[in-house]
Amino acid sequence: MRDVAIIGIGMNKWGELWEKSLRDIFTEAALKAIDDAGVDHIDAMYIGCMGSGLFVGQEHLGSLMADYLGYGPIPATRVESACCSGGLSFRSAFIDVASGINDIVLAGGVEKMTDVSGDNDTYALATAADQEYEVYNGATFPGLYALMARAHMQKYGTTRKQLAEVAVKNHDNGSKNPLAQFPFKTTIDEVTNAVMVADPLTLMDCSPITDGAAAVILCAADLVKNFKRHPAIKIIGSGHATDTIALQSRDDLTYLKSTEIASQKALKMAGKKLSDINFCEVHDCFTIAEIIVTESLGFFERGKGGCAVESGKTRIGGQIPINTSGGLKSKGHPVGATGIAQIYEAVTQLRGDAGERQVKGAKIGMAQNMGGSGGSTLVHILEVI
Ligand code: COA
Repeated sequence: MRDVAIIGIGMNKWGELWEKSLRDIFTEAALKAIDDAGVDHIDAMYIGCMGSGLFVGQEHLGSLMADYLGYGPIPATRVESACCSGGLSFRSAFIDVASGINDIVLAGGVEKMTDVSGDNDTYALATAADQEYEVYNGATFPGLYALMARAHMQKYGTTRKQLAEVAVKNHDNGSKNPLAQFPFKTTIDEVTNAVMVADPLTLMDCSPITDGAAAVILCAADLVKNFKRHPAIKIIGSGHATDTIALQSRDDLTYLKSTEIASQKALKMAGKKLSDINFCEVHDCFTIAEIIVTESLGFFERGKGGCAVESGKTRIGGQIPINTSGGLKSKGHPVGATGIAQIYEAVTQLRGDAGERQVKGAKIGMAQNMGGSGGSTLVHILEVI
């Protein structure tokens, strides 16, 4: 296995992009990444996308995007693992380059979710839950995460205010990110008094419905000298794990096994400890998710994630800055693109280009991207070289 570096990143402004098609959105981000890397070709590409068939009626994305980008007939593969399709696209590109099959590979992610009604969005997203055990019985993702929130509150005393603190922090960070869908600040009162979606989660505890894409260029580390425009970022750890899709099959609703295992695998590959990590992008599809993920990654003891966010430990300047980009909550959550956008933020931080939201002295960053209610997780660790 050879070392792999990231030499280019690209992302568009996320939101309701009604004037652009799925292929426009993806191509815009991909061309930005290619331009940022300064490469004159790519050998292959991976495209993370969860539900383009249901959202816009389009499948067969590998060929479509390679052609529209002007890079056909390169091998192009669409990758799906629900909301961590982007993370899996990144890992697929990493394995491709590390194996020696290809030297320069694009890993992208895209989703266009706002062309259908809210009901159809909820239906399409719920295809990533267990149809027989959950969806046929009326469960949706806000409902499933509400169950996890209630279980966490009951077991550990996590409070309504602590959930809101996650949204307040992430909107604060997102207000410093020009690419975020909702770059506004919010308050505890606004979060707790917003319209109820699934008790105890209000609208402001939820990630939104978003159109967007992101892309990164991976390259064999020994070729980086040929494209040296930016500090090269090495991928030092990659972990992937699965769990049951259905919550009813799990021993404990307040912990995410796939996240813990993927993180341990990534740390082992990197030869690092959690205390070496300077910042982390996590999958805050709902505010409770960020609390449980930070515990399952091991940053905080089980049951202490709520106190950690409340006391400022996860703010920029705190013990471990979480979601400097604004997270899914403020930046948006075009499901197939989210995992790649996390890598985009990590590279931006490691290059020292994050402006007002820069983590001082950041050398090693982590990204955790999760499918459904934790049925799959990808964790990556990056280091500036
Ligand atoms: N955070 C903040 N503001 C939001 C928002 C969010 N998550 N979602 C919508 N808004 C805003 C809109 O901009 C709009 O504001 P405006 O009236 O000023 O224009 C207003 O709230 C209503 O928007 P609308 O699109 O009608 O909301 P909705 O009720 O159709 O959808 C949710 C809101 C929370 C139900 C929807 O975003 C959702 O389903 N989120 C979860 C997505 C999900 O499950 N992802 C997968 C995770 S595993």
